[in-house]
Amino acid sequence: MRILGIETSCDETGIAIYDDGLGDRPEGILAHQLYSQIAVHADYGGVVPELASRDHVRKTIPLIKAVLKEANLTPQDLDGVAYTAGPGLVGALLVGCSIGRSLAYGWNLPAVPVHHMEGHLLAPMLEDDVPEFPFVALLVSGGHTMLVRVDGIGQYKLLGESVDDAAGEAFDKTAKLLGLDYPGGPALSKMAESGVVGRFKLPRPMTDRPGLDFSFSGLKTAAGTLVRKECQLPEGQALNAEELKQTHADIANAFQQAVVDTLAIKCKRALKQENLNRLVIGGGVSANTALREKLANTTKKLGGSVFYPRPEFCTDNGAMIAYAGLQRLKGGTHADLTFKASPRWSLDSLPAV
Ligand code: KG4
Ligand code: ZN
Repeated sequence: MRILGIETSCDETGIAIYDDGLGDRPEGILAHQLYSQIAVHADYGGVVPELASRDHVRKTIPLIKAVLKEANLTPQDLDGVAYTAGPGLVGALLVGCSIGRSLAYGWNLPAVPVHHMEGHLLAPMLEDDVPEFPFVALLVSGGHTMLVRVDGIGQYKLLGESVDDAAGEAFDKTAKLLGLDYPGGPALSKMAESGVVGRFKLPRPMTDRPGLDFSFSGLKTAAGTLVRKECQLPEGQALNAEELKQTHADIANAFQQAVVDTLAIKCKRALKQENLNRLVIGGGVSANTALREKLANTTKKLGGSVFYPRPEFCTDNGAMIAYAGLQRLKGGTHADLTFKASPRWSLDSLPAV
């Protein structure tokens, strides 16, 4: 079976075709295209929902044509159309939902609504080193931070989540305080590389009490207080450009270390609680090298390992939606002619496949 995947939940238009490789065909991604709207939103310091929707309208159809061309296929070669139905920005979701549902109708194919976070959770399955069920998944994106026990596709038990800002959101907001452009996560991580380890220490929120929930909003505020105290000095004591750059890097380093340690402490706790040693990470922040290294260490000590997608499939993309859609299609999920965008949609409400 071959399926087209359409991702438009936020500020990335991602389109891909995935083949399950039955018969004599190789399994895998036949084509994928990604258009990032970063330039559209950069001047505003964050995603402007209306601009995101309009840009998806402009890009989705041309990118679908491009993946068909790249894979050397026609719509008749497809067996289904999968689209992200939520969670995300409602206007952005509606673009993918309406285009996906209409194409499926026109091409006489089943349409498959996909949960965006299930896409992130299954993205490591696109790699050679595939994790076996059961495992614990840490999902860290711009909108979500969750720990989930995964016993199979659709068998998800939420173990913990953020009670306020998501990890990616905390990266982006702290990056802004350090003068970095949106989305600041990758830029902050780059800046942290030249920071002095240990010059500043920031809290590891909610690690001193039991439980698997997260809170990152206080950490972002603590980083902001540090920026004001260390960088915004009265005239006469102001830092020169070089000192300011170094202090920013030192704060970035302390912030990244605090997030990474906090996530690792909770992952270890979740693995021990569930008596597992396989950890899967997905979502934009799972591209973070410091986090990957730390979690590789954490799981190794438990006799297990960590699984993650290649960096381009950590952030939003069409391949993960095509893959998740194919699993759902094989499991019998079909949408009727109505379609619904679900901006809020809990992962553990999904049926098992
Ligand atoms: O999964 P994603 O592409 O979109 C959502 O579903 O939200 O995640 C985007 C988030 C942004 O907050 C971005 O700053 C963060 O992932 N991110 C990173 C890195 N790459 C992306 N954060 C830290 N380090 C990175 N290398
Ligand atoms: Zn995402």
